[in-house]
Amino acid sequence: MPLIITVANAKGGVGKSTIAYCLACYYSERGASCAVLDEDIQQSISDAVEQFQERGDEVSVSLIDRTKLKSYKDLTDPEKYPYDIIFVDSPPVLTTQLDAIYDLSDMILIPIKPSINDYNSLMRSREYIKEAMNRNPDLLTAIVINMAVTSSTIQDNFREAFQDEDRIKVLNTQLAQRVIYTKYPLLTHSLFKTKDTGAKREMAELANEIYYTLEFSRKNKKS
Ligand SMILES: Nc1ncnc2c1ncn2[C@@H]1O[C@H](COP(=O)(O)OP(=O)(O)OP(=O)(O)O)[C@@H](O)[C@H]1O
Ligand SMILES: [Mg+2]
Repeated sequence: MPLIITVANAKGGVGKSTIAYCLACYYSERGASCAVLDEDIQQSISDAVEQFQERGDEVSVSLIDRTKLKSYKDLTDPEKYPYDIIFVDSPPVLTTQLDAIYDLSDMILIPIKPSINDYNSLMRSREYIKEAMNRNPDLLTAIVINMAVTSSTIQDNFREAFQDEDRIKVLNTQLAQRVIYTKYPLLTHSLFKTKDTGAKREMAELANEIYYTLEFSRKNKKS
């Protein structure tokens, strides 16, 4: 059964599509078979992958054809979808609209900008996230600060807000505000094919932290 990681936030433009696709590239370039289910009507990842393929790039991430997916449950059928990891990119909502996919997910990954508006918006979604985790006892939530600027201390506010939660984790890795994220698709299909060591290092760190968070939780459940 694949790991299903749904990238979500009620806010638009926080980096959901960027992070979903970059993580899928990271794991797939290291031998995992990864696919993206693009549930956003804007189709950012689908369009980007199509453009990469049109210019002859060898994209290592597969796209799941939404029109052939009868039920989300099918995603867990390895005969139909033989992937190690499926990333679901979602529209800017964090509501019951995505319940069916949260119910199958191993993780909701929430990218968030270090701003008070984004903090308030996440707090409004908090009960909803908890309801999703109550329905699905295997579901973890991970919050990643994106477009971080060094002077911000908002990560401490996030940590404090969630310190009593077992299954909601504010990840240690932060992604910095970097021009490379906006321009690499013009150059290459993968961030990891660029020369930007800072961006590659932080995305790799994020991928590893997510992997260990999921693995640790799985081991804890077994014991
Ligand atoms: N760490 C970063 N530094 C600089 N730019 C970034 C970073 N992360 C994402 N971006 C840029 O921010 C813009 C929004 O990112 P993205 O499309 O991934 O957000 P989104 O949450 O998927 O938006 P939407 O809600 O519209 O789907 C894009 O131009 C992307 O290149
Ligand atoms: Mg998007």
